[in-house]
Amino acid sequence: MSIRMVPGMSAANAAVFSIFTQRLSMNLTLKVWRQSGPDGQGAIETYDAQNIPAEASFLEMLDIVNERLVMKGEEPIHFDHDCREGICGTCSLTINGIPHGKDHGVTTCQVHMRKFSNGDTLWIEPFRANPFKVIRDLMVDRGALDRIIAAGGYVDVRTGSAIDANSILISKDDSDTAFDAAACIGCGACVAACKNASAMLFVAAKVSHLGHLPQGQPERDKRVLAMVRRMDTEGFGNCTNQYECEAACPKEISADHIARLNRDYTMAVLREQLT
Ligand code: SF4
Ligand code: FES
Repeated sequence: MSIRMVPGMSAANAAVFSIFTQRLSMNLTLKVWRQSGPDGQGAIETYDAQNIPAEASFLEMLDIVNERLVMKGEEPIHFDHDCREGICGTCSLTINGIPHGKDHGVTTCQVHMRKFSNGDTLWIEPFRANPFKVIRDLMVDRGALDRIIAAGGYVDVRTGSAIDANSILISKDDSDTAFDAAACIGCGACVAACKNASAMLFVAAKVSHLGHLPQGQPERDKRVLAMVRRMDTEGFGNCTNQYECEAACPKEISADHIARLNRDYTMAVLREQLT
């Protein structure tokens, strides 16, 4: 929504206009993590974000702040984003100490400024975890998650000759569970929320997704062994049942998948030792 001052507006209308626009915009103080590069020291810097439209998204708010920094000849705040609609998982901001902010089931790009109040101070930091090195400011390298997927998060199938979908029947329960797990967008909020920087929810989602489908059975053991071992190699910690991952997950992936991951891993290790 945009409001323009009408030339010749009366004093009374101008007063109403002023109250209206004040309710639609807000003044904020931002405490933002700035870091020049992976080896930079990094520190929190303070910015006044004046007249931010309440209908702006969180990332649009940062866009406005950045435009003003550029106009002043200052370095804009670097942050990751792509789809801006909760699909790609790149918008990795910790807002007031919580990955993706305090609202459940949303990514940073789905957070709107109307959820905050005029005069608020917002602390904006990158996702914190040892395997996620800061690239610059609020951008982190989540390549470790990609390497876990490359280790086993796939099925080997011949492409170009898809068989009829109805020739492999899948129960409703299994297809629903697989679909819920497949909703993971690889954002890494689960890692950032965990005091152990555990990637168990992410790995569990991938293992459970494919493990509930017939197509995932031939490589089931190989997959879980390779992904868990890669996760350990990358330096992620272990799960100690804190459930912070589940609370922070924008796709509301259930921690029940971690129990399934543990069962699959245990059975795969046993079968590996017997062969
Ligand atoms: S499990 Fe949830 S929080 Fe973790 S990477 Fe997937 S979508 Fe993000
Ligand atoms: S920018 Fe794609 S999920 Fe937020």
